[in-house]
Amino acid sequence: MEIDVFTLFPEAFGWFERQRHVVNALAQGHRLEYVNYRDHTPLNAGQVDDTPFGGGAGMVLRVDVVEAALRARYDVDPVDLRARRRVIALAPGGALLDDGMVEQLAREPALTLLCGRYEGFDQRIVDHFASDEVSIGRYVLAGGELAAMVLCDAVMRKLPGSLGHPESALEESFSNALGGAPEYPHYTRPAEYRGWRVPEVLLSGHHARIREWRLHQSAARGPLP
Ligand SMILES: C[S@@+](CC[C@H](N)C(=O)[O-])C[C@H]1O[C@@H](n2cnc3c(N)ncnc32)[C@H](O)[C@@H]1O
Repeated sequence: MEIDVFTLFPEAFGWFERQRHVVNALAQGHRLEYVNYRDHTPLNAGQVDDTPFGGGAGMVLRVDVVEAALRARYDVDPVDLRARRRVIALAPGGALLDDGMVEQLAREPALTLLCGRYEGFDQRIVDHFASDEVSIGRYVLAGGELAAMVLCDAVMRKLPGSLGHPESALEESFSNALGGAPEYPHYTRPAEYRGWRVPEVLLSGHHARIREWRLHQSAARGPLP
């Protein structure tokens, strides 16, 4: 998979790129690259935003700046780009990211993520260049970078070869194996701590009973609203 992140702050992704599953995915040939809107702005002095028509606080990311960055990267009219590539504008009011959407995105050959800043995007960016508007939750972050990292993190750990133990992705919260419910609880040593004892069944070595207990615990926790 190729992921291109359009942002004013590519350096924000330094920590993310060092995470093991991301390192593994990149080593498998997947790509994660960044385009800084500011590097392609047709305006003077690196300008990328402007004051909102109609007044109000904050600055709005300009449509001509985003078009220039998309054209520089893909050499096509961005209006046509979204027909052949998912172009996702990150926005608090977008479709909520969930495991189903992550699964679907992980099957795409390529993703483009547009990070907003300040007051957000000129609406024409969303209307004419984006194929999707995606939100990571109903709260407002200062910029789209963390949202892009959340989306990439969830998508990249679904890519074959990204996890040290691929089986951990098969049976985890919201997976088909658990009928979409949250995962069952885990415990490790010590078996007893401050009088809090690990459920006996997990110490029994009886695989069938452990499996039954886990499925029951998972079902009892979900589905979440
Ligand atoms: C300060 S926010 C803009 C908020 C916008 N004025 C509003 O009220 O909806 C700046 C940028 O952060 C990103 N962002 C903020 N919260 C987000 C969320 N919950 N999910 C996805 N992106 C988010 C978007 O890219 C947005 O354009």
